[in-house]
Amino acid sequence: MTHRFRRLRRTGALRALVSETRLSAADFIWPLFITDVPGADVEVPSMPGVRRLSVDGAVRAAEEAARLGIPAVCLFPYTDPALKTEACKEAWNPGNLTNRAIRAIKAAVPEVAVMTDVALDPYNANGHDGLVKDGVILNDETVEALVRMALAQAESGADILGPSDMMDGRIGAIRMALETAGHKDVAILSYAAKYASAFYGPFRDAVGASGALKGDKKTYQMDPANRAEALRLVGRDLDEGADMVMVKPGMPYLDICREVKDAFGAPTFAYQVSGEYAMLKGAIGNGWVKEEVILESLLAFRRAGCDGILTYFAPAAARMLAGG
Ligand code: PBG
Repeated sequence: MTHRFRRLRRTGALRALVSETRLSAADFIWPLFITDVPGADVEVPSMPGVRRLSVDGAVRAAEEAARLGIPAVCLFPYTDPALKTEACKEAWNPGNLTNRAIRAIKAAVPEVAVMTDVALDPYNANGHDGLVKDGVILNDETVEALVRMALAQAESGADILGPSDMMDGRIGAIRMALETAGHKDVAILSYAAKYASAFYGPFRDAVGASGALKGDKKTYQMDPANRAEALRLVGRDLDEGADMVMVKPGMPYLDICREVKDAFGAPTFAYQVSGEYAMLKGAIGNGWVKEEVILESLLAFRRAGCDGILTYFAPAAARMLAGG
């Protein structure tokens, strides 16, 4: 036999020499759920091991990120239901929970990048990412609201804005508003190819949006059947001024990650979303699979061309990578 592939798999040293893909804590963005509602800072039942945090708790998490070598955290607010309205004005309140948390984290751990979510769902009485009129999600009016929201987050010190709403034209509008307002160095990581997915279920529990949501998000989020459209969306968002792009959900969409990376070469991220976390965590918790699936799943994103991964496993995976 001339070719014995097993020769290079024989020892750990040989395997390390020919390993094609690396995973490190520097590849992670750690999503944090925050709240200031008394009694709401508890574990999310559908996401074992993930707690909603107070602003102080989020600062401590950012400090932990710094210790573990995780470069960025991403904030998602569980908003007091009393502040949710159809006009969503709380979204651009400079003193809202997210904006207070941004300032607190940047004051305490400036070296950790803070990413935000730009979408109206945490503030919307009907749970949608956009403004709703007569059952229709309004595009252009929503974009105006998102611009206000984005500016308030930039003003508070956010490093990376993550528009996750899937309205058309929001990247260009936000980019122009940032330039005009002097926030020239605030980066945009566009949720460019975001699919209408049942894998977001536990997230909606975590931010308290499950009960409120009327209908589904299929008129703005993508059809899981589509791939050519994902490439067109990524191209559009990069043209409009996105610095980085995201594919979401993650594991069922690794084919899209690979195509996006190959077609554009831009910094490409995937979101290993709440339902993916819940599935893996549930199976690990029941002893059905070993904890090793965590690093295997994250390595798969890197192999598929992703530069980084938004993952609720960030701190656990960073500790595993550090050998702890
Ligand atoms: C909302 C938003 C969602 C997620 C991130 N931002 C949910 C949705 O679109 O309904 C999902 C993240 C996850 O499931 O972990 N704009």
